[in-house]
Amino acid sequence: MELLRGKGRLQLVLGAVLTCGVGIALSMAALMVPERFDAWRIYAFGVGVIFFMLAYLISSFRHASKIETLVLERTAELQAANLRLLELGKIKDEFVAVVSHELRTPIAVMREGICQMQEGVCGPITLEQQATIAITLRNLERLRELVEDMLDISKIEAGKIVLQHEKFDFIQLVREIQNSFLPRSREKEIGLELHLPGPHLWVRADRAKLAQVLTNLVSNAIKFTDQGEVRVTVEEDAQQIRCAVSDSGIGISDENMPKLFQKFQQFTRLSNGEKGSGLGLAICRGLIDLHQGRLWAESSYGKGSRFIFSIPKGENREPSAAIR
Ligand SMILES: Nc1ncnc2c1ncn2[C@@H]1O[C@H](COP(=O)(O)OP(=O)(O)OP(=O)(O)O)[C@@H](O)[C@H]1O
Ligand SMILES: [Mg+2]
Repeated sequence: MELLRGKGRLQLVLGAVLTCGVGIALSMAALMVPERFDAWRIYAFGVGVIFFMLAYLISSFRHASKIETLVLERTAELQAANLRLLELGKIKDEFVAVVSHELRTPIAVMREGICQMQEGVCGPITLEQQATIAITLRNLERLRELVEDMLDISKIEAGKIVLQHEKFDFIQLVREIQNSFLPRSREKEIGLELHLPGPHLWVRADRAKLAQVLTNLVSNAIKFTDQGEVRVTVEEDAQQIRCAVSDSGIGISDENMPKLFQKFQQFTRLSNGEKGSGLGLAICRGLIDLHQGRLWAESSYGKGSRFIFSIPKGENREPSAAIR
């Protein structure tokens, strides 16, 4: 009965008014005509016109009703297709999660076996074999990282990551990350500097997840910088901490900036053949969002980039000596 609303109702009312109007006008005409005219003919003509108008009204009503049914049917079909798409998306996410999880164990076992061969546990190996084993291990490591990233992103998207909040010294975490990347930055002959607000900065957050974010940001900064330096700057205010990882590397073009935090986006082919999965930044953003924080980037193409995240400090009292 949607038809009885809006345009449909207007059409119906107009039609009815017109029909009645014509009927009344013709009746009056029949009464007023001089006797020498045949009133019955006028009546018959009037009835004919009214009949024709009623028929037209009914047919346009039926047509509109058909269109409405069609629209309703198509809407229902679209809704069903949308539901199906959502279901398929869920199935795909679960599939990725299960496969990634199942791949973890065999990869770990293979890695262990190859490491033992490399160490000569299974017998002496030649230099040539050493080289082959090193390549295999490198690729296995890439595969492991890819599987871990896929597992992480599918968990983030499924809302299955629960943060393990603890109180920790953020400055100490930043120093640990710096130490883990120093060999890499020295190898590339670029600086890895820290700008810190003091010796300690206590926050309540998920330490492992923030380590993962920092690791990816610093790793990216070193990966995409060939000269100059990478700098990690930490700042705080009453409510939050802000951490920026800046580099003097290749930068990101304006055209690529909007896609930066999307999955599987890689804009740079590295000359050393180093490859990632393109999931790192999407994972970082997911993890910072979970902390009720914000992660964003600024870049000047050809000059360098800056990735900044801010998160609430949480409960910010310095823990007692016993806890420390
Ligand atoms: N500091 C940076 N300077 C220039 N480009 C960057 C920087 N950080 C990220 N990018 C660009 O954004 C892309 C996505 O980064 P992301 O960390 O998500 O993936 P990745 O580093 O390629 O792979 P991985 O999944 O191993 O982290 C990179 O491939 C690179 O093109
Ligand atoms: Mg990365």
